[in-house]
Amino acid sequence: MKKEQFYDYESRLSRPINVKIPELQTGERLRHVIFADQFTRGILERVTRTADRIRTVHKSKDGCRFLRELLPHIKAMLYFTQPSTRTFLSFMSACQLLGVSCAEVRDPKTSSESKRESPIDSMRMFSSYFDIVIMRSNQPQFAECCAYLMNDLGETSRRSVPIINAGAGADEHPTQALLDIYTIQRALTFDHPKDSSKWTWFEELRQTEPGLRRGIGGKKIGFCGDVRRGRTVRSLSRLLTLYDDMSMYFVSPPHPKLRIAPEMKSLLIDRKAEVREFSTFDDPCGSSSVIENLDVLYMTRLQREHNSPEDEADFANLDFNPYRLTSKLVARMKPYAAILHPFPRDEEFGEIPTSIDADPRAFYFRQARNGMWVRAALLAYLFDVDSQIADYYEKYTAETKDYNTGVL
Ligand code: NCD
Repeated sequence: MKKEQFYDYESRLSRPINVKIPELQTGERLRHVIFADQFTRGILERVTRTADRIRTVHKSKDGCRFLRELLPHIKAMLYFTQPSTRTFLSFMSACQLLGVSCAEVRDPKTSSESKRESPIDSMRMFSSYFDIVIMRSNQPQFAECCAYLMNDLGETSRRSVPIINAGAGADEHPTQALLDIYTIQRALTFDHPKDSSKWTWFEELRQTEPGLRRGIGGKKIGFCGDVRRGRTVRSLSRLLTLYDDMSMYFVSPPHPKLRIAPEMKSLLIDRKAEVREFSTFDDPCGSSSVIENLDVLYMTRLQREHNSPEDEADFANLDFNPYRLTSKLVARMKPYAAILHPFPRDEEFGEIPTSIDADPRAFYFRQARNGMWVRAALLAYLFDVDSQIADYYEKYTAETKDYNTGVL
C-alpha cells in the first residue's frame, strides 16, 4: 500500500496507544483486535477460560454440535496477503468450530487490486459481504487503518464490521500473543496426567524448588533469536507485563538490528518488568547461567525477509550458533521449563533441531494447536456467545462427572 493512501488516517495513526484503545472497543468489549495492549488481565482470563471450556465441550459429538450452532449467521473473510500456515488455518478451523463460514483472499493478484483498486476499497467490499475481516498484511498499520475505516462507516450508519489483526508487518501479532499466553499459562499450571490425591507433579517439583508457584507471575521468560524484528516477541512481551514480577531475558546476536529495540526495552522496564540482554545462553545470570534460570524459553527464527542487502553483508560476519538450541542446552534447563516457538521454524538455520521435539518440555506443537482453541474463544468473546459456552460447560461437566467420575 502506498504511503499517500494512509493520508486520511495519518494523524490518527501517530496518536499514543492509550488514546487509540477506546476507539477499538464498544463499551467495555473489544470490537476490533489490532494491538496486544488492548488485552487486559480480565480479558486474558476470560478468553483463556473460554478456550479451556471449548476444548472440553468439543470432546463430545453433542458438544461439537452445540458449538457449531452458536454463530451460523456469521461469515468471515480471511484476507491474508502475507504467507501463513498456522494463523490462517487455525482461524479457519476456529471459525468452523463455531459454525462461522469463511472465504479467503490470499493473493491480491486474484482480486481487483490487480486492476488498481485500492486495498481500502477492497476492504470496504469485504465488509459488504462478510461480518468480520481477519487480516494479515506486510504493512504494519494497515489493519489499524481498516479499523478506523470501519468506525467511520459505522458513524454514518453504513455497514461496519470488526477487524482482527492476524499479523501486521514487523509490528504486532496480538492473537499469537494470546495463544502464547494461553500455552505458557497451561504449562506453568504444572498439571500432570498422573496427578492423584497421593502424588502431584507440582509437589514433586517443589521438593527441589520450594519457592515454585503456579502461574505466570514471577517467572523468567527467555526470548532467543531475532528479537527485534519478530512481531510475536513484540506482542507477547507486552502481554507479559500484565503479570507481576516478570523477568524477560533477551538472548540475541549483538547487532542493533537484531537486539531488542531500545524503545521496546524502555517500555517493558516502565511496566515494571526486569529486562536483561545476553549474547549467549551461557552468559552468567545469578549463581548459574541464563539457560538454567529460565521458566519459559521462546525461540524465534531469523526474519530473513526483512534483510536489506547491507544486512545480508553485515550478518555474514556474525556467529549465529549461540541462537540454535541443542540437546545439551535443553538438558541444563529446569525440569518443567517450557520451550515455545511461534513457528515456522527455519529448517536450514535450525534454531530448534527436530531431535528436541520428543522432549516433554517442547511445547511448540501444542502451542500451535492452542491457537485454534484460543482463536475460537476470541471469536466467541467478540460475538458475545462466550457466556453460552460457560453455561453449556457447567451442564456438560456436571453430567460427565455424574456418569463418569474421575474422567475429567
Ligand atoms: C509468526 C509470524 O508470522 O509472525 N508465525 C505465526 O504467525 N505463527 C512468526 C514468524 O513468521 O516468524
